[in-house]
Amino acid sequence: MTIHTPDSGQQWSALAAHFATVKDKTIAQNFASDTNRAEKYSLQAAGLFLDCSKNLLDDLAREKLIDLARASGVEARRDAMFAGERINVTENRSVLHTALRDMSDTRIDVDGADILGPIRDVRRRALSFAERVRNEDWRGVSGKSITDVVNIGIGGSDLGPRMVCEALKHFSHERITTHFVANIDGDALADVLATIDHERTLFIIASKTFTTIETLTNARSARAWFLAKGASEADVAKHFVAVSTNTEAVRAFGIDPANMFGFWDWVGGRYSLWSSIGLPIMIAVGSENFEKLLAGAHAMDRHFRVAPLEQNMPVMLAMIGIWYRNFFEAGSVAVLPYSEHLQRLPAYLQQLDMESNGKSIAIDGAPVTHATAPLIWGEPGTNGQHAFFQLLHQGTQCVPIDFILPVKATHNLPAHHELLIANCLAQSRALMIGKTADEARGEVALPKGTAITADQLAMHRRFEGNRPSNTILLDQLDPVSLGALIALYEHKVFVQGVVWNINSFDQWGVELGKTVANRIGEAMKPGASDGNLDASTRQLLQKCLARWQ
Ligand code: F6P
Repeated sequence: MTIHTPDSGQQWSALAAHFATVKDKTIAQNFASDTNRAEKYSLQAAGLFLDCSKNLLDDLAREKLIDLARASGVEARRDAMFAGERINVTENRSVLHTALRDMSDTRIDVDGADILGPIRDVRRRALSFAERVRNEDWRGVSGKSITDVVNIGIGGSDLGPRMVCEALKHFSHERITTHFVANIDGDALADVLATIDHERTLFIIASKTFTTIETLTNARSARAWFLAKGASEADVAKHFVAVSTNTEAVRAFGIDPANMFGFWDWVGGRYSLWSSIGLPIMIAVGSENFEKLLAGAHAMDRHFRVAPLEQNMPVMLAMIGIWYRNFFEAGSVAVLPYSEHLQRLPAYLQQLDMESNGKSIAIDGAPVTHATAPLIWGEPGTNGQHAFFQLLHQGTQCVPIDFILPVKATHNLPAHHELLIANCLAQSRALMIGKTADEARGEVALPKGTAITADQLAMHRRFEGNRPSNTILLDQLDPVSLGALIALYEHKVFVQGVVWNINSFDQWGVELGKTVANRIGEAMKPGASDGNLDASTRQLLQKCLARWQ
């Protein structure tokens, strides 16, 4: 395949020159000079509505950002990804999570073989298994129906399914509770084991590689717990299934490959919820809803592939992010879902964005010369308003924000939803308009006996405003909108990776810590030497061991 090295130096310079002239232009000035701004800076795609008018972005900056995307080869790299070219060059792999939700009949080949057929076969098998669990056809060894599903996996084998199961709670099977165990900290597993009945539990051991130490340790302990309850080795087959690309390791672990659901190396861990890794989602919400989730994502894929860059929602979101990261030097982005059930979305997006684009080496192996992924963080509104919003409104740094708001409620408490909407819209507006010291002066009486003056108090109560945000509206938090929302962010991250000329699909940065943990694990064994450790780590280790024994 061709590596598209961006010939975008000119566009970066043009943007830098423009930035120098507009960096002090306020969002309010942008609105004042264009009565159509709200409409002009809004996009609709795959059932989502994006209003990006409340940004420090004028028409020329937007135009130049799109020029940069084009010159960076976003369209060619996007087409290469969808066509199955091996764009993940450091692992020599295709990147085809989009094929997992491709409902069309267009053939997609990897190594000369069509992959849509196998994708559909595996999905059919996994969905049919999920339906058997749901309709009590698949039962535990003692004939009891399954009431608890425990997914044991970490990273991409946890965050996506966990986030989606939480988000789609309203669509979940009422008999079945889905649990997630990721952390090596025994409390994660122990907490879940304390609440379940082994005769009614299905464990899903989810690991793309089936070598991840956290997952294998938790899986072994879960199996030991199961056997200690009086179950036999033969009973394991009814209560343990695996999701993996590594059949041999699954067999070696003691799970019959007949109880394994596969996927492929061209599905990255953090892009895998659409594959068999979505098994807990399939069991929780059923085939129809899982397929709707895929359909929502596919609708966003279609939009991403065909919409001109100027009207392309993932491209717009990505380039606004580049504007803040590389020109305003914003170090973080807050994602604030106004939805209790989207509480796991920020954690999911952290892996998606930071594991994909937290890189400092360009595709050709040279150090990058610009900033790449910002920190991603967030909490649901309105909770965050009573915690960190202080900093967003009056702190010293600019934190671009994505507000995410489902317009229709999934509950029967309409008064709550109206307040939720009012708060979300109020925050983006307040962050933008701020409040002058003059407006603040006299709003409250000076506290009796205070050492400060009315003018000083007004300064404390003033809001600079001009703080940027995007707002994404979902019709409702349902499988279709959720699928589209996730795909929107996947493609946003992809576009940024292309513009930064990095490989968004590897994750070498997590390897060193794993190797060092293994070495320290060895050093912890009785009689082992800790001589190769640095003085600080050796001291900490000795203290840990001393308390332990
Ligand atoms: O350590 C990082 C990582 O490789 C992630 O990319 C991945 O999602 C996670 O570990 C889990 O990997 P696996 O599914 O192979 O257990």
